[in-house]
Amino acid sequence: MSKRSLAVVVLAAGQGTRMKSSTPKVLHRLAGMPLIQHVLESAGALNPEHLVAVVRHERDVVVASVLDTSPAALIVDQDDVPGTGRAVEQAVEALPAEFDGDVVVVSADVPFLDHATLEALLDQHREASASATLLSAVLPDATGYGRVVRRASGDVDRIVEHKDATADERDVREINSGTYVFTVSALRTHLPRIGSANAQNEKYVTDMVGLLTAAGEIVAARAVDETWRLEGINDRVQLAAAARRLNDRIVEHWQREGVSIVDPQTTWIDRDVSLSPDVELLPGTQLRGATYIAAGAVVGPDTTLVDTEVGEGAIVKRTDATLAVIGARASVGPFAYLRPGSVLGAGGKIGTFVETKNVEIGEGSKVPHLSYIGDTEVGRDSNIGAGTITANYDGVNKHRTQVGSHVRTGSHNVFVAPVRIGDGAYSGAGTVVRKDVPAGALALSIAPQRNASGWVEANRPGSAAAEAAARAERTTD
Ligand code: UD1
Ligand code: CA
Repeated sequence: MSKRSLAVVVLAAGQGTRMKSSTPKVLHRLAGMPLIQHVLESAGALNPEHLVAVVRHERDVVVASVLDTSPAALIVDQDDVPGTGRAVEQAVEALPAEFDGDVVVVSADVPFLDHATLEALLDQHREASASATLLSAVLPDATGYGRVVRRASGDVDRIVEHKDATADERDVREINSGTYVFTVSALRTHLPRIGSANAQNEKYVTDMVGLLTAAGEIVAARAVDETWRLEGINDRVQLAAAARRLNDRIVEHWQREGVSIVDPQTTWIDRDVSLSPDVELLPGTQLRGATYIAAGAVVGPDTTLVDTEVGEGAIVKRTDATLAVIGARASVGPFAYLRPGSVLGAGGKIGTFVETKNVEIGEGSKVPHLSYIGDTEVGRDSNIGAGTITANYDGVNKHRTQVGSHVRTGSHNVFVAPVRIGDGAYSGAGTVVRKDVPAGALALSIAPQRNASGWVEANRPGSAAAEAAARAERTTD
């Protein structure tokens, strides 16, 4: 088989009307990655000389996504003429005139199409010296897809779109996946001949098939067994079903790598997440972005980690964390909120109803209860009392709080930043720390307590409180 040159065209100009979204369809995400990126990954693996992306709807954001991972891609802006046929026509016009190879056409909304399936399609096409080879599948319910119409001989005759099909044609269950290989010469000859006299008034690339067979050229169809790989995503029902399917595969992959996943149904793992053996994921856990979890850590229940790193043996319970680093054997939650830049040292603790942001909490240091700690550094083996607030914002600027090592701060403190608390220092309950506290000092800011005796009897006579106070007085008499 001769090694011919190759171009891949990714169709991404459509509006995605059925999505009813302000986000272009091809940027909706599946396992954390835009639909179009799934397709670019498989198509890119063919190592084509030319990778063309056809864009139109919301073109700037789509182009940014394409160039992000495929900087060498050729971007083609589709004009006012609608339809996949026009999209391919303009892509072919953008190829160098001397290009004389094969053109693989894929849709950006068919995310499960993998490299191996594309490679097999291309091999079959080249072996048969076909002018076109399309990827098809026999589905139990073919509704919505273009149907592959065959002749009595069994040879492919043409493709008819669902909206244009007769009742008999709609009974055909072999569908066109929207993935094809064409010789560029077939495209150059026949694309200009495609009209738009159809139900959608569009130029259909699918009309290529009928034009080629009428011209006596070879058109083959490769039917795949893994039919789910060809499912197109057109609406949110299909998107959710595809997300479920992909998640099932990702979950199973990690189970086979030694991760315990108690409830696969409620555990969602993005494709770029990385997990170690003996990690345990409890129900209701979502691991997103580039989250990494080291061996023996227990995460969940009801925890969402985005781009977060969890160290060996850490426990992260009922927590929401983004861009955080949780040290080995550390403990987080239940009900903790770690915002970007939260770094917790080995053996440390961010406890119940604690919010952190841009903090570095040293080894063995703890923020156990009901606190907000932001723009702060804490040394090692310090304990921050319950109900502590770092007042880091003066209404204009953010300021830092620095807490040393082996510090013990009292409950219900406010650290008014910028402020430093030295190593080994203490603070009393309810202290508002406005000035630096030297190492080893005890900070106190509260006025001495004063008790006004008999206040209740004088001011609330006859109340339940007054009666209780009177009873207490009698028993102590
Ligand atoms: C298309 C096929 C149909 C096939 C189905 C498989 C046509 C006419 N029909 O239908 O036979 O069964 O895919 O999923 O091709 N696009 C453009 N420019 C346009 C219109 C669409 O680039 O003017 C892009 C879209 O962004 C999308 C792809 O082409 O990525 C397919 O378009 P879509 O409207 O989803 O086609 P289907 O109706 O699904
Ligand atoms: Ca589609």
